[in-house]
Amino acid sequence: MRTEYVIISDCEKSKDILEKAGELIRCGELVAFPTETVYGLGASALSSTAAERIYTAKGRPSDNPLIVHIAMASHAEKYAHTTPLYYRIAERFMPGPITVVMPKKDIIPSEVTGGLDTVALRCPENPIARKLIECAGIPIAAPSANRSGCPSPTSASHVKCDLDGRCSMIIDGGECDIGVESTVVAIIGESCKILRPGAVTAEMLRTVCTDVSVDKAVVNPALAGNHPSSPGMKYKHYSPEAEVILVDGTAEEFVRYVNQNAGENDAVFSSEKNKASFKCKLLITGKDGTAAEENHSLYSLLRQADAEKIACVYIKKPPKTGEYLALYNRLIRAAAGRIVKA
Ligand code: TXA
Ligand code: MG
Repeated sequence: MRTEYVIISDCEKSKDILEKAGELIRCGELVAFPTETVYGLGASALSSTAAERIYTAKGRPSDNPLIVHIAMASHAEKYAHTTPLYYRIAERFMPGPITVVMPKKDIIPSEVTGGLDTVALRCPENPIARKLIECAGIPIAAPSANRSGCPSPTSASHVKCDLDGRCSMIIDGGECDIGVESTVVAIIGESCKILRPGAVTAEMLRTVCTDVSVDKAVVNPALAGNHPSSPGMKYKHYSPEAEVILVDGTAEEFVRYVNQNAGENDAVFSSEKNKASFKCKLLITGKDGTAAEENHSLYSLLRQADAEKIACVYIKKPPKTGEYLALYNRLIRAAAGRIVKA
């Protein structure tokens, strides 16, 4: 299949391209597009064959359900059995980096939800994503636009690398702002449970819900077992070729450990601010090394490590709190549990 590659910087000026992309989605084809979190590989959420095409293109197990993207939070009504809590979450956080899991309505084929009787709904904020859903006129099922098991794509070049020849169109809308996938929450009555942490934190959810919990598998992948609350939890994820080693210790202990252990082909994740401390190769996370910068650069640095044939990447183990929980959750999976004490 030939993949058309288009660059969009202004939605208004690129209306024709987005109309064409919408038409491709309506016809059951695959279109990769930017969102504020990571790039998505989109197809009609109302078609079982389109969903199967996504699984084939990604090389993804078909029991791992897809997120359904909607143009407006109120459209959830057509696809899921909503509750007052959904609308409180929607009012505060949508459009934005949050996905809500609710009982599905029959219009969503079971191929889209990996056979589950729930559906995950997300209303993205990125203007290109919003305009594409509007142009398609139907909801868009979209997992991250990477080959299954590779780091999620945060730029169109990552998508091209993984999916060229496997989808009809790739829309290049620049780098994703956030860089890690949306927060996934399941709502049951007036309670909600975080199945995957993202930029909307537990603390933020507590402003609209008194009962917020975090699934145990978020910080301990081994607890996902064979019947996890979110099927995505059980797969090996986000893994680069390079070995990722998380180092548990203070900032000083981390520097000492890396300088003692890192070899010629190894690298360390460091901010600009701290780079002078290290003797090995650097993968620069940002200016100051804030949680937002580290989330933003994570996947692209893991891809860079592979491109540069880095053998081993040393990363300081982040805390499990606030915005760092998303980073922690991705890193323990990328490291496949390799945590060393400094
Ligand atoms: O930020 C994002 O959410 C990106 C962009 C493209 O929107 N999408 C994304 O999709 O990360 P994906 O397919 O890579 O991850 C979806 C996650 C998986 O872990 C899946 O198991 C979970 O959401 N999920 C989807 N539907 C579910 C459901 N009905 N119940 C529980 N978990 C569900
Ligand atoms: Mg994914």
